Amino acid sequence: MIQLQAITKSFGSLQVLRGIDLNIDKGEIVSIVGPSGAGKTTLLQIMGTLDAPDSGTITIDGTLVSRMKEKELSAFRNKHIGFVFQFHQLLPEFTALENVMIPAFIAGVGQKEATASALELLEFMGLTDRAGHKPNELSGGEKQRVAVARALINHPAVILADEPSGSLDTHNKEELHQLFFDLRNRFGQTFVIVTHDEGLAQITDRTVHMVDGEIV
Ligand SMILES: Nc1ncnc2c1ncn2[C@@H]1O[C@H](COP(=O)(O)OP(=O)(O)OP(=O)(O)O)[C@@H](O)[C@H]1O
Ligand SMILES: [Mg+2]
Repeated sequence: MIQLQAITKSFGSLQVLRGIDLNIDKGEIVSIVGPSGAGKTTLLQIMGTLDAPDSGTITIDGTLVSRMKEKELSAFRNKHIGFVFQFHQLLPEFTALENVMIPAFIAGVGQKEATASALELLEFMGLTDRAGHKPNELSGGEKQRVAVARALINHPAVILADEPSGSLDTHNKEELHQLFFDLRNRFGQTFVIVTHDEGLAQITDRTVHMVDGEIV
């Protein structure tokens, strides 16, 4: 599903990625762990086409994305990749329901269909009665689940998550982790999750260890 070949990336004189090769299968849940500064976020951003590598190739769902132009790329990203960040990054002026619907609007889905799929996802997340609330009226765990629903609305083949449970307490953290597995089982999605959480890393299908810009 995701193939990275010989990915390198530097910021000025700092080489952050030193030739990363990684293959991730469809439906796999892979965790990426490693010390702070190892290059995990940089790798995830490059995998998600939010940043470009200096060299190397990226293939996602059979498409060679490393050659694509920005306009094509943003359409590809909107359709194929869902992002979950450490802090939910919901839009404060919009309700939970509207936040979930936004990527569908961007993809050109009509109001009626977008509402129906957003409500279905919120129901799956146990958030039906929170749909009309704005982010500041939701708990941390609820916000994070809304962010996951938003990542899923366009049925992306790949979900990339950067410390998604970093701001959650133990209970909410475990619920969110369970949710990833439920989603994979139900929709067959592929997950790449950067985490400092050993409990999560242990239950994923595979753990990739990064140190100093390399996979060890
Ligand atoms: N835009 C940038 N410009 C310059 N340096 C950067 C930039 N982004 C990241 N870096 C540097 O690249 C290195 C790797 O950063 P990255 O965010 O990938 O680490 P990480 O493994 O995600 O760490 P953490 O666990 O703390 O989130 C760090 O030394 C960081 O300071
Ligand atoms: Mg990081």
